[in-house]
Amino acid sequence: MLTYPTQSSLTEEIIHNYKMNKTLDTAEICHLLSHKPKEEDQLLFTASRDVTTANVGEMVHLRAIIEFSNVCEADCLYCGIRKSNDNVERFTLPTEQIVQTAVEAMKQYPGVLLQSGEVQSQAFVNRLAEVVKQIKQLALTNSPLKENFRVILSVGELSQNQYKQLREAGADRYLLRIETTNERLFKNIHDRQSSMNERMTCLQNIKDLNMHVGTGVLIGIPGQNLFDLANDVKFFKKIGADMIGMGPLLPAKGTPIGDNYNAQQVLKDIHSENLFDTVKRMISVTRLMNPKANISATTAMEVLNPESGRVEAIQVGSNVVMPVMTPIGDKKKYYLYEGKSNVKSGLDVLKAQITQAGRKYDLTKPGDPVSWVERQK
Ligand code: 5AD
Repeated sequence: MLTYPTQSSLTEEIIHNYKMNKTLDTAEICHLLSHKPKEEDQLLFTASRDVTTANVGEMVHLRAIIEFSNVCEADCLYCGIRKSNDNVERFTLPTEQIVQTAVEAMKQYPGVLLQSGEVQSQAFVNRLAEVVKQIKQLALTNSPLKENFRVILSVGELSQNQYKQLREAGADRYLLRIETTNERLFKNIHDRQSSMNERMTCLQNIKDLNMHVGTGVLIGIPGQNLFDLANDVKFFKKIGADMIGMGPLLPAKGTPIGDNYNAQQVLKDIHSENLFDTVKRMISVTRLMNPKANISATTAMEVLNPESGRVEAIQVGSNVVMPVMTPIGDKKKYYLYEGKSNVKSGLDVLKAQITQAGRKYDLTKPGDPVSWVERQK
């Protein structure tokens, strides 16, 4: 419920109400997401940082990403590896190379994320299931975490049976961003075959398999406004997301949205001076509404603000960082958006960034989402 400010700012009132009620309504979320004086944003950022510490602790968890194929059957209008982007040279790593890279990753990190474009064939899923099995087996002897080494998948929309097959092969977590919960926007930015409802069904199927379920949205979709973003945050809560990844939409060459990108219009739509601040506010509000989820500091944040993108995301509520470990020759080809392959991902850089944000790291724990752990009780 909104109460009207007396002497204090509306932001202060909303944060005060939040502390009493532990929730926010749509109007309150919209206000927190909007452009306002820096001191008011600071109230939000301090609150979300405190909620992070109280619910998921001070640790920032790390997982290595291996982008094993940029072949994609989907034609999303924003994504650089969309099927019809002929500028991109396609690659698929051989099974042995994926597994070998994962073995390198497990010497440093407690989990590995295998990501690729969307391919729905059974042959693709069979091969991926085999890869997951091998990685889990090799973790028993190569990872200090042994059976607690986590395999995370992010390969798009699949059938319930296919998700089940991957779960049984040993996959622990699955990431599938909804991208936006506004159906009209969803249609605008995806090709005709995609449907928001189908994607929601996929997320439910993943949850039913008791995998850690991850989702997220793009911020700065043409035509997107604060009300849409508020609904996105409420959606994360409604489905009980264990992992949330959000980032700015960045232009990718050879895509309809990237080639017509109008930054000023996007800022107008989301009532912002700059996109980076809006994403920071989104992370904060998402933390307030989903205190026990893992929220990542995304690569896109680091691209948008190379000085301190990740650090600021961590300061306001992110508790996961996912460095890219794709073999060097193919890193540039995994072209989701401009500037992605230049982001620094070395362990030393990440450790320094986490420390700079005033947080700690622990590479010996799986860092399972607290929300998921509590569901097991
Ligand atoms: N800008 C930012 N993020 C993008 N993604 C795809 N294309 C872009 C882009 N142009 C994100 C999508 C997808 C994730 C793997 O990468 O949200 O879910």
